[in-house]
Amino acid sequence: MSAIITSIINWKGGVGKTTLAHHLGTGLTYRRKRTLLVDLDPQCNLSYLSVGAANHLIMTRQGTPAIHTVLKAFSNNSLSPLKTSS
Ligand SMILES: Nc1ncnc2c1ncn2[C@@H]1O[C@H](COP(=O)(O)OP(=O)(O)OP(=O)(O)O)[C@@H](O)[C@H]1O
Ligand SMILES: [Mg+2]
Repeated sequence: MSAIITSIINWKGGVGKTTLAHHLGTGLTYRRKRTLLVDLDPQCNLSYLSVGAANHLIMTRQGTPAIHTVLKAFSNNSLSPLKTSS
């Protein structure tokens, strides 16, 4: 099974990128499509829109792994795809 990757990009702020991503994800889920929303925005708007602000706060306080966990691992070079074994 192949995945379809969709990015929603617009240089202008406040034009509905996050809202559209959320509604697309929700709509696909209702149609029983397995959907993964990846929030790369440091504002985390899509994350707390998806799980609810209160839940997002709890998850943050609990230290639930998030995209920054993955990016940090890459920046530490521990997961770098360019890393070669010697
Ligand atoms: N189709 C729409 N009709 C009316 N209001 C909308 C629509 N889509 C989004 N909005 C509203 O516009 C505002 C900005 O939306 P949103 O946060 O999705 O934009 P964004 O492009 O992700 O912003 P940012 O650049 O800050 O990440 C929000 O208040 C949202 O509720
Ligand atoms: Mg946004």
